[in-house]
Amino acid sequence: MSPAEDIVFPEYIQHERFKTWLRDIVSLCKPKTVYFCDGSDAEYAALCEQMVQSGTFKRLNPQKRPNSFLALSDPSDVARVEDRTFICSRRKEDAGPTNNWVNPREMRATLAKLFDGCMQGRTLYVIPFSMGPLGSHIAHIGIELSDSPYVVVNMKIMTRMGRKVWDVLGEDGDFVPCVHSVGAPLLPGQQDVPWPCNKEHKYIVHFPEDREIWSYGSGYGGNALLGKKCFALRIASTMAREEGWLAEHMLIVGIEDPKGTKTYIAAAFPSACGKTNLAMLIPPRGFEGYKVTTVGDDIAWIKPGEDGRLYAINPEAGFFGVAPGTSYKSNPNAMESIKANTIFTNCALTPDGDVWWEGMTDTPPPELIDWQGERWTPEIAEKTGRKAAHPNARFTAPAAQCPAIDDNWENPNGVPISAFVFGGRRASIVPLVYQAVNWNFGVYLAATIGSEMTAAAFGNIGQVRRDPFAMLPFCGYHMGDYFNHWMQVGRELPNPPRIFGVNWFRKNSDGAFIWPGFGENMRVLKWIVDRVHGRAASIESPLGWMPRYEDLHWKGLESFTREQFDELMTVDREAWKQELLSHEEFFAKLYDRLPKEFIWMRELILSSLWRSPEHWHLEPERAE
Ligand code: OXD
Ligand code: MN
Repeated sequence: MSPAEDIVFPEYIQHERFKTWLRDIVSLCKPKTVYFCDGSDAEYAALCEQMVQSGTFKRLNPQKRPNSFLALSDPSDVARVEDRTFICSRRKEDAGPTNNWVNPREMRATLAKLFDGCMQGRTLYVIPFSMGPLGSHIAHIGIELSDSPYVVVNMKIMTRMGRKVWDVLGEDGDFVPCVHSVGAPLLPGQQDVPWPCNKEHKYIVHFPEDREIWSYGSGYGGNALLGKKCFALRIASTMAREEGWLAEHMLIVGIEDPKGTKTYIAAAFPSACGKTNLAMLIPPRGFEGYKVTTVGDDIAWIKPGEDGRLYAINPEAGFFGVAPGTSYKSNPNAMESIKANTIFTNCALTPDGDVWWEGMTDTPPPELIDWQGERWTPEIAEKTGRKAAHPNARFTAPAAQCPAIDDNWENPNGVPISAFVFGGRRASIVPLVYQAVNWNFGVYLAATIGSEMTAAAFGNIGQVRRDPFAMLPFCGYHMGDYFNHWMQVGRELPNPPRIFGVNWFRKNSDGAFIWPGFGENMRVLKWIVDRVHGRAASIESPLGWMPRYEDLHWKGLESFTREQFDELMTVDREAWKQELLSHEEFFAKLYDRLPKEFIWMRELILSSLWRSPEHWHLEPERAE
């Protein structure tokens, strides 16, 4: 055990505040050694090899997946733990009713006990990282202190990590301190396990005023890779509010038309709505000459530029994508991105040393080792219902490997955003696409998106889980304040981006999806882009502007009929009255801080529903 005073700092670290903090954490956590990550490929290779030796990693067949590894987690540590995630603002009201809150003094006392000696027998890795291109004025820096080599190698892919970060930090640069421990000290003589974690205690804690993150007990994903949900969303959303920008749970894509004009849009969807697929969409037949390029698949940091437009960067450098369901059919670009240099977690292993998961191929391999290390066959699966891969199995892959990566994805000035798109998973009620009449209505639209928790029956909106802006688990402060912040951003922009709602998941009365989905979403994106440029027709509906059948591009999908389209676009007046009541019920929780505009906007939508006929249909005459 090396006392804090004995830490040998590399000469390139001249940041006294950092040094004091590191000494404090070392005194508290009592690691065996301290290692300063330089972010080099050699370091990455050495740590991966070390994890192969310790049993955390299995090296995949280099002929099939060069330089790639599989990790199998402890079965108790497989996903983000929302019920163990805390926003410890000084005042409870500032965390809001949708976050777990504990008094920060009390939480600090709890953490002091948990972290005391928690890294015994382990190495403390110092992981300096930039969220966003190094030195970009939109980027911010964090330093994670972690006792997990798995975290180090994932952070190398997911962020700009290592030596170079110190050049940006200099002697006094700002950084977000992030402390992470798997919560499994190794006492002398104690044998390590492949996936150390703490089965009893997990705490993912944010102190928004101090801009600090403490994570204990989990080695998995968003609980442990603290640059992602903890920093880039929960802490960054509080920074963004104070500083007048936006930290959002959004993908960013560029859409280039055959004339070479590129339009960037940012889109928010709750988890499990195919965000990565949309971020990497390949234009379908009928869209020759169009290109869709990927800037990011999960998070966008967006700041106003001097020209009054909003500019976005993807703060991440890699994809931490859900593996099950990813295939050459659903997302060829994702499959190409993970061909090499990829870390797989909780996927199944094939006999020839490759990975597999449900949905990767139509026919499963005859035999596998499943994510719990057990023999798995399709017959066993049929009998027991056991999955080969965990449903939240992941790949961690460098974004630069995506064939559709945008030329500007590392542009330090970001890309200009022309439209925001918000969608949920709704089997009924919500049409395929509609455009909010202005920014304020757009904010209302985004604040009311949601997903059915189960396949709800037609017209049954009781089971909708509202997930405003897809930020409910990720906003570091009161959601009502968050809506007000969005309102304010709109007030300050001379010509704010247009806002759209989409729903790919509407079903017909037989329970089948009406919209063919996947690549066909391009037809909707094209209409959105054309609206932005003032070259697509629409008509007015109770919800905003909507395309008629003839306003969408159908080349290549001629089989999709006007009747099917009209069914997708129907606004059922009675169902929408219920929907508005359900908005009100959700908003009642946030009442004290809700933008006052929301009340009037709800009334305005209600008043436009309040007339015959019973269903609003796309009407024949063309409005300009
Ligand atoms: C994610 C999520 O893992 O949103 O990206 O849940
Ligand atoms: Mn996400």
